[in-house]
Amino acid sequence: MTEAQVSTLISAPELASKIRELGARIAADHPGKPIHLLGVLKGSFIFMADLARAIPAEVSCDFLRVTSYKGTQSTGDVRFDMDLSEPIAGRITVLVEDIVDTGTTMDSLLRVLRARNPEKLLVCSLLQKPSRTKVKVPIDYLGFTIPDRFVVGYGLDYDGRFRNLPYVGVVEGM
Ligand code: IMP
Repeated sequence: MTEAQVSTLISAPELASKIRELGARIAADHPGKPIHLLGVLKGSFIFMADLARAIPAEVSCDFLRVTSYKGTQSTGDVRFDMDLSEPIAGRITVLVEDIVDTGTTMDSLLRVLRARNPEKLLVCSLLQKPSRTKVKVPIDYLGFTIPDRFVVGYGLDYDGRFRNLPYVGVVEGM
């Protein structure tokens, strides 16, 4: 499979403009306050890097890793592979996800993180597939809603491939 088989759904300029808007909103909603970003690996790493730079405020970053997906079908089974390196108690935390599909991953993560007593626990997701929702989760900052297609690029993968595409695209034939 080559890059030629991926068609663009959201272009690099569209991503950049939306992320500038999200970053400005996050800062404006918390004037003068430091923002602690929690990136869900691996899918959010590119979005997180751009979002962090788009927030005109004091920003710190941490990462966690869960496994919830095999191939293109959600298993609904979330396993923590890597935990945060710092406490989130008393901090304004923003959980940064690449995509909310069924909502299962985000729902599990929010339960665990809420129990750690952050001052605020907000969700920022680049993408959401509303037609696939199984568990409703609050998304405070959303980039784009997309149709029920399997997407890759800008951090999102298909079995480990395509994360480095600078746009979000659909793999032809899927
Ligand atoms: P959920 O638990 O069903 O909401 O799934 C969330 C996770 O599934 C995301 O963090 C992604 O890792 C993965 N995922 C869901 N849809 C896609 C997709 O279209 N492309 C790539 N990964 C996806």
